[in-house]
This record gives sequence, C-alpha cells and structure tokens, in this order.
Amino acid sequence: MDALTFLGIESSCDDSAAAVVRHAGGRAEILSSVVQGQVALHAAFGGVVPEIAARAHAERLDHCVEQALDEAGLTLRQLDGIAVTAGPGLIGGVLSGVMLARGLAAGTGLPLMGVNHLAGHALTPRLTDGLAFPYLMLLVSGGHCQFLIARGVDDFRRLGSTIDDAPGEAFDKTAKLLGLPQPGGPMVEREATAGSARRFAFPRPLLNVPGCDMSFSGLKTALLRARDALIADHGGLTRQDRRDLCAGFQAAVADVLVEKTRRALAIYAMDLLADPAFAVAGGVAANMAIRAGLQAVCAKAGVRFVAPPLALCTDNAAMIAWAGIERFRAGLLRIDDLVARPRWPLDPSAPAMIGSGKKGAKA
Ligand code: KG4
Ligand code: ZN
Repeated sequence: MDALTFLGIESSCDDSAAAVVRHAGGRAEILSSVVQGQVALHAAFGGVVPEIAARAHAERLDHCVEQALDEAGLTLRQLDGIAVTAGPGLIGGVLSGVMLARGLAAGTGLPLMGVNHLAGHALTPRLTDGLAFPYLMLLVSGGHCQFLIARGVDDFRRLGSTIDDAPGEAFDKTAKLLGLPQPGGPMVEREATAGSARRFAFPRPLLNVPGCDMSFSGLKTALLRARDALIADHGGLTRQDRRDLCAGFQAAVADVLVEKTRRALAIYAMDLLADPAFAVAGGVAANMAIRAGLQAVCAKAGVRFVAPPLALCTDNAAMIAWAGIERFRAGLLRIDDLVARPRWPLDPSAPAMIGSGKKGAKA
C-alpha cells in the first residue's frame, strides 16, 4: 500500500502526547513524538487527580500537536489521517483528546480513527520490531497488567490480568509507605539493589491457583505490616530496613510476573509457531530485575523476547498514530470507536475486571 502518515493524540491518563508516524515501503518511522508529563501537577496529592489532568490536557494538547507537526516538518494538510485515544482511561482526559481530534478532522476532512489505548501498547512491538501475529504480550504499568495474545490488528485474546492493583501502582504505594518520592517504581528499584530479598517473606499472591490472573494489593498490605512491626520494635526504619523491604517486595512482584509468564507462554503454545515471540510494554518493564526474569523465562522456552525502547513502552502518542495506521490499512474505520469510554476491554469475551485504580478503571 502507499505511504501513510498519521497524527496520533494521547490523553488518557497523565501524559499529554502527540506524534507523527509514517509507514512507507514496509517500514514504520516515527517522525516526531512529543510527551508532556504532569508529575509536578499531581505531586502534592499523592496520585493523579482526574479533574486536574483533564484541564491540563485541554490546555496543552493543541501545543503538543503543533510541536509534533513542527518537528516532523509537516502541516496538517500533508497528513493522511488522525488517530486519537478514545479509552480506556480517565474520562475527562480522553474527552479532551477526542474533542480536539474531532475538531482537527472536521477542519481538514481527514479520516479520524478512535484507538483503544491498550491496543496502542499491544501493537507497539510491530512498530518497533515488525513482529508478526500472533505474539504474546505483557502490559505491565501503573494502570494495567494483562497477558494478551495479539492475533490481529483488532483481535486480542486476554489470558489473564490483575484482579486488583497494577504492579506499577503497587510500586508507587510501596514507595509512599516507605517515604520515597513518586513515581515510586524507579525509587524502589534503586533501594532494592542494595537490599536483601531474603530477609522478609512476602507472599506470592495467586501462584497457588491455576491460570494467568494476578493480584498485587495483598503484597502492599504485607509490606505495611512488616514496616509497622519494625517501627514497633525499633521506633523507626533504618536505611537497611528500607532497602530490604524494597528488595523483598520487588522479588515477590518479579516472581509472580515470571511464573505467570511461564504459564501464559504454555497457553500461547509456542511450539506451534515458527517464530514465537513475547513482548513486554508499560513503565514497569523498565525494572531490570523484572525484565531479567522475563528474559530468562523466554530464553528457557525458546521464545524471542522483545522490549520496545522505554519511551515507547510508557504512554506516548506514536503508538496511537501507529495503531491508527494499522486500523486504517485493515479498513477498520468505525464511528463507534470515537465515543470516549472510561472502560474498553480489548478482548470483549474475557470477563470484566473489577475495581478502579489510581489511573482510572481497570480494563
Ligand atoms: O506505562 P507508564 O508510564 O504509565 C501508565 O501507568 O500507564 O507506567 C508508570 C508506572 C508507574 O507506576 C511507575 O512507578 C512504574 O511504571 N515504573 C516502575 C519503574 N519505572 C517506572 N516500576 C518498577 N520499576 C521501575 N524501574
Ligand atoms: Zn498506558
């Protein structure tokens, strides 16, 4: 097919983002990718405040689009289409993006694709590494944790997911309990490198039940109890206590993810495929201990391990532009996709997940 150049817009959580991606001659190229985070805006509240996030998106998104077009050296008229995240996520933010995209499409006459944010993450390994379907995917971030078999542009089978917190959320809460700054993941990882994972016996939730569902909220409660016991005994935490707590917590998360990945690989039945592949995306994929564990389980199973560069693992608009291109090429231009939705499971046949995390509803 001819070259396609799409603008992508993302605003489902706390990153305002716009990007331009081109697909030509079988190759995908990111011409620009602008991400404006909101960490400072929410810092005082210990989590993302939906109303503040929505307002910031409404103020910033058009500047992100301008900057993305500038950096790509293109005008709106030179695009072939626009793609926008239409869910799942914090509804005010999603609406800011969808309204902007509708306005741009109405003004230019360009086709407009509504993209599922999770599909954006799940299709990223095709943008970065040209992975062929079907591949196994682990989305592991502050808002999501699920195993998916990506079978086609619009065909995902969910094998399991968290039934409560996402791992990034658990890392963030752990940091908070130990007086470390947000986002907590990198802080907890840094402390853990100087700690012993053997000192505290934290649980490995749901390993005793079959399947690929996961749970992380009990782990945080266990950490809270261990912390309070130390405080009751010694009147406070030493530096080493904190390091050991972080190491124990991180090892428990890694063990759960690795074992569940082993099970998901077995379901994916890689022996039936010529080139089986496992891809990981989401902010938690930055964690070296977790990444090493996942890499090792893939090596053991003879499965290619793919981890897109971190900037494309975390929330960004290049993945949305790319998903738009993929959907456009597949003829999936659907008006329903443009309705902003707080919940939007990728696999409608999988049972709905309960609860809502700090970054909005669970998929
Ligand atoms: O994908 P992401 O940028 O945003 C969404 O949640 O959608 O992921 C952010 C999450 C945060 O919870 C952060 O604490 C976690 O990823 N994270 C990490 C690390 N770096 C970021 N968790 C563990 N170890 C890390 N090195
Ligand atoms: Zn995300």
